[in-house]
Amino acid sequence: MSLLLSKSEQAIFDGEAGEAARQSMDILVALGKIYGAKKMIPITSAQISGVSYKTMGDAGLEYLQGLAKKGAKVKVPSFLNPAGMDREQWKEMGIPEDFAKKQIEILDAYARMGIMKTCTCAPYFIGIRPKKGEHVAWAESSAVAFANSILGARTNREGGPSALAAAICGVTPYYGLHLDENRHADIVVDVKCDLKGLADYGALGSAIGKLSKNRNPAFTGIDKTTAGEPKLKVLGASMAATGSVPLFFIKGITPEWNVSDKIERIKFTDSDLKAAKKEIDTGLKPDLVTIGCPHASLEEIKDVAILVERKKPTCDFWVCTSRKLKDEAEKLGYKKTIEEAGGLIVADTCMVVCPLEEMGHIVTGTDSGKAAAYLPNLCKQKVAFGDLEDILYR
Ligand code: F3S
Repeated sequence: MSLLLSKSEQAIFDGEAGEAARQSMDILVALGKIYGAKKMIPITSAQISGVSYKTMGDAGLEYLQGLAKKGAKVKVPSFLNPAGMDREQWKEMGIPEDFAKKQIEILDAYARMGIMKTCTCAPYFIGIRPKKGEHVAWAESSAVAFANSILGARTNREGGPSALAAAICGVTPYYGLHLDENRHADIVVDVKCDLKGLADYGALGSAIGKLSKNRNPAFTGIDKTTAGEPKLKVLGASMAATGSVPLFFIKGITPEWNVSDKIERIKFTDSDLKAAKKEIDTGLKPDLVTIGCPHASLEEIKDVAILVERKKPTCDFWVCTSRKLKDEAEKLGYKKTIEEAGGLIVADTCMVVCPLEEMGHIVTGTDSGKAAAYLPNLCKQKVAFGDLEDILYR
């Protein structure tokens, strides 16, 4: 059956809402046809990736400026993924001036379309939390995994252009994870080891992502009382990075548990955890430790402040988070404590999308399987992987 548009969607497609909206509906219709969607579905929010000048370049900037010039305006609350720098402290970070200028132009183009300059990959920590069953169009892979799995919302893993098109039209093609029949597990992982810090969840996610190969995993054996949202976000982000996993289930934790008895079942033991960590960690001492992939929650920032107040780290360190939580951390005194220990709370950006390699860093520390997966290729970094107490004081 072919894709049917409503009267208002057809009007946008025919150009009655302007050229920018027409182009956007064109993208959505093409996507819908490729994936066999029968209709569009209204969305309540859009999260847009493709924000850092490092990944967008001049071509991306010109595309956005062109769209803004044609009068593009978003129809639903829409917000941005991390940019390539902290909008206020880019000089302290060591960002080159010409990079900063282009980055500001990208953010301004998005703002002209009505998009919030949130610049975070963890919008769920700043109050943007779609409810179970709510349809959204989110692009950041870790946020997609969190929204689908932990919140029970429904989104495909959008690309930057399709999320932006959905934001402008207020709808997305109805296929993939928007449909009940696709929201099921394909493999069960019985966790037989004790997961402690964030790095354990990062290593588990990294290993299972590689093994899942686009299958949705379901976990048993993860303790609800110790696995808070920061650990679950790291688990999902790591699987999204190494295996493009957009949805997972955890017995007793996730709002959905669609798991058949007939699917493959594997065990994840202590020795698997050790092997996963060893595979990621070079064992080197980092010259920069980066915390917050995905962006740190206030609870994580507090934990860092407590740790570094007790003992000053032996290397530079950043805590990456949203602007909103950076401001809250300042009010609560965590920012001062972190700065006195030689660190920076860096908002709007992250270790992967800022130009780390141009800033002279060689070995970067992380407790996230996602950052560990991307740092070598995207930032030419060697990775020191482990829990904070390990990488901050190596
Ligand atoms: Fe977020 Fe950057 Fe990690 S966008 S998920 S902190 S790689």
